[in-house]
Amino acid sequence: MLHHQPQQGKFISFDHLTFWVGNAKQAASFYCNKLGFEPLAYCGLETGSRDVVSHVVKQGKIIYVFSSALNPGNKEMGEHLVKHGDGVKDVAFTVEDCDFIVKKAREQGATIVREPYVLEDEFGSVKLAVLQTYGDTTHTLVERNGYTGLFLPGFHTPLYRDPLLAQLPSGHLDFIDHVVGNQPDDQMVSVVEWYRKNLLFHRFWSVDDKQLQTEFSALRSIVVANYEETVKMPINEPAIGKRKSQIQASSHIHTHIQPYALGEYVDYYGGAGVQHIAMNTSNIITAKLHILVDYDDNGYLLQIFTKPVQDRPTLFLEVIQRNNHQGFGAGNFKSLFEAIEADQHARGNLTVLMPNGTSQEI
Ligand SMILES: [Fe+2]
Repeated sequence: MLHHQPQQGKFISFDHLTFWVGNAKQAASFYCNKLGFEPLAYCGLETGSRDVVSHVVKQGKIIYVFSSALNPGNKEMGEHLVKHGDGVKDVAFTVEDCDFIVKKAREQGATIVREPYVLEDEFGSVKLAVLQTYGDTTHTLVERNGYTGLFLPGFHTPLYRDPLLAQLPSGHLDFIDHVVGNQPDDQMVSVVEWYRKNLLFHRFWSVDDKQLQTEFSALRSIVVANYEETVKMPINEPAIGKRKSQIQASSHIHTHIQPYALGEYVDYYGGAGVQHIAMNTSNIITAKLHILVDYDDNGYLLQIFTKPVQDRPTLFLEVIQRNNHQGFGAGNFKSLFEAIEADQHARGNLTVLMPNGTSQEI
């Protein structure tokens, strides 16, 4: 399929991801201690940021920002935390011509959360704007204009550096490969359309472009990408697992099997949101076990998935190594979902919804 290059307004790459969490200091330290990130920048009370504290960590080209409210009664961040728990609030892209991208998105009806604005300090200036995407998630556009500071204007060097970090092995994580958004039932296509219309993204035809299922879990997934295909965002929605069709074929009782793996995410996140972040490496073997392999005639990919990185069964992480293979691991879906289902069973969330609205554990 031919995709037309937008005449203006280029998406270059993922810029950073912002997590809204209850305790930014401890969350940032988890990524440093467990995954090999290093502190990059900070803003908080000591730097003149009176309302929000942010700890920024970096590995390769991957930048994560952990933010928490500093004062009682922060309505926006407080309500976000009550509803979603810790999670990804914003997926930022490095762009050229922020103004044009916002203008185009507005013409198409996108919600502009924040009109283009400029941040400046002694290292230069950066233009930013914020668009609303699925659920309470946003996209920040970052036009860096050759900015030479640590991260963004207003951020300073980290206050403390944990001396133990220097003794930990590198995580060998290089860049963000893809960021996956989970949607409630029947929302996938409209979200994909949002990216197509507003950001001029296109459908990225993947080798594993088909329905994926185990006995209990199933999903549909469409990957959207920018023109250059440097930003890839799979958009998922639940589908009905095999067990449902078996039950419907063999019984007149209208029993509904919950599409578990995605249904559980949406239940606990309180709607659509970022389900996992995949980080690309060229050295997956170094520190990891239980690596999943998917392949075709031309190449292969290696994947490993973490358990959820907070107590709610919501966001998890993926490490991916590609060798001439542009898929997203369809061949690994069965083992991944069987592992998730085992955990869901332990959480009491592997249940059958009965016609009278009650649920029954499997
Ligand atoms: Fe993935």
